Amino acid sequence: MAESKAKAEPITPDVAVVMVPLPAQGHLNQFLHLSSLLSARGLPIHYVGSATHNRQVLDRASRLHNGGTACRPIHFHDFPVPDYSSPAPEPDAAIKFPGHLQPAFDAARHLLSPLTDLVRSLASRSRRVVLIHDSSMTFAAGAAASLPNVEAFCFHAVSAISGFFFRWELRGKPREPAVETLELPNVSNKDCISQEFCDFVLSQQQTTVADSGRLINSCRAIEGMFIDMVAREPGWQDKKTFAIGPLNPIIFNQASGDGASPPSIEWLDQQPPSSVIYVSFGTTSTFSDEQVAELAAGLEASGRRFLWVLRDADRADIYADTGGDEVEKEKLPSDYYTRVEGRGKVVRGWAPQPEILAHPSTGGFMSHCGWNSCMESFSVGVPILAWPMHSDQPRNAVLVTDVLRVGFPVLDWDKRAELVPSATIKDVIERLTASKEGEEVRRRARELGGEVRRAMEEGGSSKTDLDAFVSHTIR
Ligand code: UDX
Repeated sequence: MAESKAKAEPITPDVAVVMVPLPAQGHLNQFLHLSSLLSARGLPIHYVGSATHNRQVLDRASRLHNGGTACRPIHFHDFPVPDYSSPAPEPDAAIKFPGHLQPAFDAARHLLSPLTDLVRSLASRSRRVVLIHDSSMTFAAGAAASLPNVEAFCFHAVSAISGFFFRWELRGKPREPAVETLELPNVSNKDCISQEFCDFVLSQQQTTVADSGRLINSCRAIEGMFIDMVAREPGWQDKKTFAIGPLNPIIFNQASGDGASPPSIEWLDQQPPSSVIYVSFGTTSTFSDEQVAELAAGLEASGRRFLWVLRDADRADIYADTGGDEVEKEKLPSDYYTRVEGRGKVVRGWAPQPEILAHPSTGGFMSHCGWNSCMESFSVGVPILAWPMHSDQPRNAVLVTDVLRVGFPVLDWDKRAELVPSATIKDVIERLTASKEGEEVRRRARELGGEVRRAMEEGGSSKTDLDAFVSHTIR
């Protein structure tokens, strides 16, 4: 993909912003959301990645960002990376971290050279260049080295609670009074992240120049205490932390009724208010056939309406010819569709998740607690049935169930290696939809939704931080 042709005239042409995401859907889209927000403020945005990942993020964003028009002013830079393999995910691996994406992450390190050329070129004709890199791509800050008018910012695409505890464990769990007041379930980095990815992140720390500050896709209403803990981390006390989330475009309580919506939305249009449990596990997880069978049986036994996105994890290159190296398609019993007809819908491709969550018929979300999924659900007040798999998800699940109490756990993290039986799935759906404590959880989720949306309005904490970041950028 070449640079976009139709570009809006920037209000501040003398300041340029360069975005460097980690090449995985859950990070690419957050950088796109942030790009759109900053672009709407008149800042020229340069989004850097391989041709494949730039194409991926735009293909999947088109409905959310007004058919792509909101992305048009953004300059997409397709930079070359070496060929990399794109193996199938491994549903039976002991650690559920998507190690099959590692080849794309490793290849992304080769972006440094063309990125450095781009930053130098922009710096020579701009008053200031602001380089925003993923917290897992700190090598990119090297492109800012020795250029006085370039500032790097670290962008955290994960929650403050998970980022804090990840780094706190790496620092050897030093005494931290705030941690001692919390009674949180024990989650350890080594159970969440592959050693390879940990090495990938840590090996970059030595090459990075100091960042000027950090941006977090989170919000004080959700985790003010953890945002403060992150801001106090060693090395960051004198730098600004901007909590600017949720970055996802907020659509709320929106049925379609336009006759031109994806089938899942049209199906939701036919369902009663708050009646549907939406079931989806993001883009980095694949269930075993046995787990799919248990989930199918649990959803059926619950007797509730459900909309289930049943798909494999993304490959490193979602467009690559898999050469027959397919994960066997998850099987459902042949008469399953008939048995759940009228109340259950299974989607096999890409679903418009933010629109599904915002739909008035959606009443709950069975989720792996990826941070995008959490933020999208929090912003529209939908309670979560938490089924974490890897990375930040176990700690996000703790935030959902123990801190915010806007959801229930599906599984006990200590038993993560075991199959989750259908009876557990049925029970947790009943707990949410038909119990007194479920009513409380639904009420709290609605309240939180209101607070999160207010945070993005004039005077709200996230809008104030975003305004402050923009002011800092163009000062
Ligand atoms: C990954 C990590 O797993 C997650 O923990 C981290 O916080 C971000 O990167 P992923 O597993 O894909 O992300 O989960 P999530 O963070 O929820 O991101 C998935 C995104 O894809 C969401 O924005 C979701 O709305 C979108 N999506 C997914 C769809 O729109 N349709 C789909 O069918 C599947």
